[in-house]
Amino acid sequence: MKVICTEKSQILATRLARVQKTTVIDVKYSRFPDGELYLVTGELDNETIIVSSVVDNDALVQLLLLIDACEDSEIRLVIPYMGYARQDRQDRKGEPLSARAVARAISRGVSECITVNIHEPNVLRFFGAPARNISLATDIGAYVKTLGLKDPLILAPDEGALAFAGEVASAGEWEYDHLAKTRLSGEQVTMAPKALSAASRSVVIVDDIISTGGTIATAASMLYGQGAHDVHAACVHGVLTGGAYVRLMEAGIRDVICSDTIERGCSKISAADQIAHALQTRAKQ
Ligand code: R5P
Repeated sequence: MKVICTEKSQILATRLARVQKTTVIDVKYSRFPDGELYLVTGELDNETIIVSSVVDNDALVQLLLLIDACEDSEIRLVIPYMGYARQDRQDRKGEPLSARAVARAISRGVSECITVNIHEPNVLRFFGAPARNISLATDIGAYVKTLGLKDPLILAPDEGALAFAGEVASAGEWEYDHLAKTRLSGEQVTMAPKALSAASRSVVIVDDIISTGGTIATAASMLYGQGAHDVHAACVHGVLTGGAYVRLMEAGIRDVICSDTIERGCSKISAADQIAHALQTRAKQ
C-alpha cells in the first residue's frame, strides 16, 4: 500500500505515509498552454491511498485525473477537506446540489471514502462508494490544552456547532456554550454566550471551518465588549479566504489554530493520526 496526493495535500500525505510506514508516490503536475491540467504518477501499488483536499477547482480536477490514473489499483480515498460540501441543499429550482455533484464525481472508481469533519454529514449519502467521516475535535482539545489557558470557556459560534464544542471541551473538562444572537434593532445584532458569561475569561471559539473569518471576528469583538480577557480561534479547516487571517488578528484574536486538512501557516494540528486510525478498518460495503 502506498500514498499518493494532489498538489495541495502534500504535507498531510507525507505525514500520513510516515504513520503508515509507507511512501508517497511521486506525481508530476503540469498545465497545457490552454490551461488544462495534466499529471503523471510514479509506479503504483496494488492498493493506493489518495489524499486530496478539494480546496479549489484545480484540486478537484487533479483529484479526478489522479483517480483515473490509479484505476488499476484499489483506491481508498481520503478527502481531508471537501470543498462544495457547504452547498448541501437546493433552495431554488434550477440550482445544482453541488455537494452531491462533487461527491458523485470523486467517488467513481474508489472502494471507500473518508472525510474529516465534513460540514454536513448528510452529504456522505451522495458518495457512490461507502463513505465515513472522522472528527478532529479531540485533537483540537489536546492542542488547546498546550496553550495553558486557565479554565478556558469553549464557545461554538452557533447552536449547530455546540456538539463539536462539547467534544473539544471534553479534553480538559472545560465549560462550553454557544453564542446566541439577539436583535437589538433593524440593523443591530448582539452576540453573547447563551448561558455562561465571558467576563474575565479566556475564550476559545471553535468551528469546523473558518472561511472569511467574519463570524469569529464579529464574535470576538462582542466578547471583548463583554469583558473577555483573551479570545482564541480554532477550527479544523482553515479556508481563510481573502484577508481572513488579518481580519481575525485585527479583531484581537490571540491565536488562530487550524489543522493540516488545508495546509496553512497556522496548521498546528495534523489529521494524519486520525486518518491512519480510520484506515485500520475498512468501510462496510
Ligand atoms: C458554517 O456553517 C460554518 O460552520 C462556519 O461557521 C462558516 O463557514 C464560517 O464562515 P466565515 O468564516 O466566513 O464567517
